[in-house]
Amino acid sequence: MTKDMFDLSDRVIAVTGGLGQLGYQFASTLLARGARVAVLDLSDQEDAIRRRYGADRDKDRLDFIACDITSRASMEEACAKITKRWGVPHGLVNNAALDSPPGSSAAENGPFETYPEASWDKVMDVNVKGVFLACQVFGGAMAEAGRGSIVNVSSIYGMVSPDQGLYQYRRDRGEVFFKPVAYSASKSALFNLTRYLAVYWGSRNVRVNTATFAGVFNNQDNEFLARYTPKVPLGRMADEKDYNGAIVFLLSDASAYMTGSNMVIDGGFTSM
Ligand SMILES: NC(=O)c1ccc[n+]([C@@H]2O[C@H](COP(=O)([O-])OP(=O)(O)OC[C@H]3O[C@@H](n4cnc5c(N)ncnc54)[C@H](O)[C@@H]3O)[C@@H](O)[C@H]2O)c1
Repeated sequence: MTKDMFDLSDRVIAVTGGLGQLGYQFASTLLARGARVAVLDLSDQEDAIRRRYGADRDKDRLDFIACDITSRASMEEACAKITKRWGVPHGLVNNAALDSPPGSSAAENGPFETYPEASWDKVMDVNVKGVFLACQVFGGAMAEAGRGSIVNVSSIYGMVSPDQGLYQYRRDRGEVFFKPVAYSASKSALFNLTRYLAVYWGSRNVRVNTATFAGVFNNQDNEFLARYTPKVPLGRMADEKDYNGAIVFLLSDASAYMTGSNMVIDGGFTSM
């Protein structure tokens, strides 16, 4: 019988931000395909993550590791824990990110001219430095082992600008609202981090790709949906399960000849 090219049995895969909306989907899908999955998320999320995944679920193949991707020491500790338990990771999904930092001021969604420097720093710290550090630590270990696949999760707003017109209805009703700049700039940075590392680690068989996603339905208000969905050729926001296939593909041997690429799954958003 030929081997299933999408098989992930016993592959060791770390998913950063594994408690979040998409991270939970990715970790659950990878578990269902037989992988050993380390969910990495902030320590203050530990109770929430245990509740979300269930205390006894896939105990032998699921681990939760409290960490902060903006700290090299924290990433080293996480990688060492995983390696001790299951061996050097085969896969890393750099999924953790901040859109607007929690507790951010109203200025966060204000005009570009007064976008707070502190918000810029915080978003860049998580979305760019955090991915850089995770790649250094996990990718470095993979390169030593002579194999690996890294997926950097980006956004359509890293490829094209947010359309501020989408939010005009909010400004019309007196709110100050612009989609902030730092998220877009941070998500663009991942495209060339990916290419740099694909070239750097090509000879050591560590593949690095970007997966670019569009907006996911998460109970957005009808006014927003009425403006957003006409911009999507498939006519809807993504379901939170729509990106799972891409993650399996990029981590499995099905994508063995793919590195440095940007896999865009956006319902056609960036085609218009
Ligand atoms: N949801 C969307 O509409 C959408 C669209 C396009 C791209 N994306 C991308 O998909 C990814 C996941 O998005 P989501 O909507 O599921 O996000 P989310 O906010 O639901 O989850 C993000 C997770 O990252 C964790 N996190 C934040 N800072 C961290 C840190 N310093 N260390 C460790 N963990 C940290 C959070 O605790 C959270 O669990 C992101 O990279 C995002 O840019 C999302």
